[in-house]
Amino acid sequence: MASRYHEVYEGWKNDPAAFWAEAAKEIDWVKPADKVFDGDQGVYGRWFSGATCNTCFNAVDRHVAGGRADQAAIIYDSPITGSQRTYSYAELKAEVAALAAVLSDLGVEKGDRVIVYMPMVPEAAFAMLACARIGAIHSVVFGGFAAKELATRIDDARPKMIITASCGIEPGRVIAYKPLLDGAIDMSKYKPEKCLVLQREQAAATMVEGRDFDYAELVGAARAAGRDPGCTTVAATDPLYILYTSGTTGVPKGVVRDNGGHMVALNWSMKNHYGIEPGEVFWAASDVGWVVGHSYIVYAPLLAGCTTILFEGKPVGTPDAGTFWRVISEHNVAALFTAPTAFRAIKKEDPNGTFIGKYDLKCLRTLFLAGERADPDTIMWAERMLGVPVIDHWWQTETAWAIAGNPVGLGQLPVKYGSPTVAMPGYDVQVLDDAGHAVKPGTLGNIVVKLPLPPACLPTLWNNDERFKAGYLEEFPGYYKTADAGFMDDEGYLFIMARTDDIINVAGHRLSTGGMEEVLASHPDVAECAVIGIADKLKGQVPAGFVVLKAGVDRPETELQKELIGLVRDKIGPVAAFKIAMVVARLPKTRSGKILRGTMRQIADGEPVKTPATIDDPAILGEIAETMKTHGVGSA
Ligand code: COA
Ligand code: AMP
Repeated sequence: MASRYHEVYEGWKNDPAAFWAEAAKEIDWVKPADKVFDGDQGVYGRWFSGATCNTCFNAVDRHVAGGRADQAAIIYDSPITGSQRTYSYAELKAEVAALAAVLSDLGVEKGDRVIVYMPMVPEAAFAMLACARIGAIHSVVFGGFAAKELATRIDDARPKMIITASCGIEPGRVIAYKPLLDGAIDMSKYKPEKCLVLQREQAAATMVEGRDFDYAELVGAARAAGRDPGCTTVAATDPLYILYTSGTTGVPKGVVRDNGGHMVALNWSMKNHYGIEPGEVFWAASDVGWVVGHSYIVYAPLLAGCTTILFEGKPVGTPDAGTFWRVISEHNVAALFTAPTAFRAIKKEDPNGTFIGKYDLKCLRTLFLAGERADPDTIMWAERMLGVPVIDHWWQTETAWAIAGNPVGLGQLPVKYGSPTVAMPGYDVQVLDDAGHAVKPGTLGNIVVKLPLPPACLPTLWNNDERFKAGYLEEFPGYYKTADAGFMDDEGYLFIMARTDDIINVAGHRLSTGGMEEVLASHPDVAECAVIGIADKLKGQVPAGFVVLKAGVDRPETELQKELIGLVRDKIGPVAAFKIAMVVARLPKTRSGKILRGTMRQIADGEPVKTPATIDDPAILGEIAETMKTHGVGSA
C-alpha cells in the first residue's frame, strides 16, 4: 500500500494542536485539556494543560472494563530461571491494585518518588503501574548499575521508598541486589524511609528491621483482601516518572516524563508507527531499566490494549541463539523490538540461522531496531534470515518515542540502509552547522528539533530547569539539541552518525566517558586520564581507558589494570563493560591543554587521523598508537 506518511506529516505540520487533539481522543481523560499546547507553561510549553487523568487507569482498568479482562496483558518468559507466567488484564489489575494499597499503607502519597531497583520480573512492571495508580513518581534504576550510581539517584530523586528484589540473574551468576541497595543507602545523604523487598528463590535478602518489608507477604494479604485504593487523578502535566540517563559528567540527568502527553504519543505510536492493533502481541526485548523498557515493554503496549512480553534472558546463552525465535513462535509475537547488538550476538553464534529454521515464525510481521546505529550488515542479515521488514528507528531517553522511523502503520516507506528513515509527526528535525545555520542536504551537522518538542518528550530535568536549558536549549536557540550529529538527504531521510558529546553507546546502553574518567581519576596512582569509545564488532562501542601515572609510581601495569577495571565495575557497574586500561607516558593535547579524545578514537578505529593544527606535541599520537598496538586494542 502507498504510505500515508507524507500526508499525515504535513497534516501535523499544518496544525499540530489539531493533530494531537485527535490523537488524544484515544485516551480516557478525567477532564479534557483546556489547551492542547500551552506555550506559556514550563520551560518551552506544556502539552494538554488543564487536563486530568490517570495513566494506570488507561493502561489497565479501562481494558478490564472494556472487554479485555481475560486477554493476556503480560507474558513473563524467563529462560534464565526456566519459568513462565501469563497475567490477564484482570490479574494485572489485581496485582497492581494490591501493590498500590501496600504503597499507600507504607505512606506513599501523590507526588512522592519511589525508586524501583529490580530485575526483569513482572513485579517491576506492577511497581511502575502501582506508582502511577496512586500518583507517585517512579524512578527505575537498571540492575547492572553499582551501589554508587544508585546512591546518586537516591540523592537526586529523594524517594520515600524503594521497591527491590533480592537478586537479579545473569548467565552463570546470581547478583544479590540487597547488599547493593544497603550499600547505596549507606552512601546516600538522603535516606528513604522504607523498602519493599521481593524475595526470589535464587537468593535471600537480609531484611533491616523496621525499614524493610516483604513484598509477597504484604501484597499477598492485600490481594487476598481484594484491596484497591483506586486511581488517583493527576494533572496531565504531573510527572509520571523520572528516568536517569548519562550526562556529560558523572552526575546523571533525571529525565522527567509527564502523564498526559506520554499516553497520547505512545498510544499513537503503537498503531501508526509499529502497525500494531489492540489484542496483538508486542515484544520489546530490552530491560525495564531503560527507556525502551519503560515505553515499549510497559506503557505503550498496555495503553494500546496489547499483550506485552517481559523477557528475562539474553539473546544468546539462555540457553542458545534460538531463544528469540522460541519466544516469538510460542507467544505469537507480531513485532519484535530490540537493539542491533542483540542481533549481532545471534549472528555471531548462528550465522546461518540454523535455529531460525526450527521455529514457525509466520506470526512475526516486523523487526524494529533502535538504541544504537543499525549497521547495514546486521539489517541485511536479519532481513534475509527472517524474511520480514527490518526497521531502524532513532530516539533517546529524553524523547520516550521515535524521533525518526519508518511508520509501517501508515504504510512502509522504502528502506535506505544506514538511515532510520524520516522524522515522525511531532518532530521538525533540522541539521545545523555549529553557528546555527541550516546545512544543505547531505552535509554533516548537528541534529536538532525545532521547539516545541512533541508530547511525551521531556518537559525538563528533575528539579533542574537550568541544567535542562543549558544542556539542551541554549546552544541553538529555538531548538532542542539532540547531541547527535548526522545528515539529512534530499528526500528527508536522516542518517545518525555520532554523538557530539562524550556519550558512548555500549551494547545499546548509553554511558558517559566523562563519568568513567572521574572514576579512574579517583585512583591514588593516577595523575590524569582519558576514556574513549572504540569500535567493537559485537557491542558497537566499548570504552578504553588511558592513564598517566603520578610521578614516582612504579607498579606492574597488570596490577594497575586490574584495580582500574575493578574500580569502574564497583563505582559504575558491570554494565559499563570497562575492560581495557592502558598506562601511557603522556596524553595528546592541544596547546590549551584539551585532551584530543577524538583523534585517539580515530587511531583506535583505524580511521584517517586528522591531526589538529592546535596539537601541542604530535609525537604523542605515535606513542598512543604504539601503546594500542602492544595491547592489541582497536584496529590501530
Ligand atoms: N544486572 C547486573 N549485571 C548486568 C545486568 C543486570 N541487569 N545486565 C548486564 N549486566 C552485566 C553483564 O552480566 C556483564 O557482566 P560481565 O562483564 O561480568 O560479563 C556486563 O554487565 C555487560 O553486560 P552486557 O553489555 O549486557 O554484555 P553481555 O556480554 O552480557 O551480553 C549482549 C552481550 C549483546 C548479549 C547483550 O548486551 C544484550 O543482550 N544486549 C541487548 C541490548 C539491549 O537490550 N539494549 C537495551 C536498549 S534497547
Ligand atoms: P538512549 O538515551 O540510551 O536511548 O540513547 C540515545 C542515543 O543512542 C541517541 O542519542 C543516539 O546516539 C543513539 N541511538 C539510538 N537509536 C539510534 C539509531 N537508530 N541510530 C543511531 N543512533 C541511535
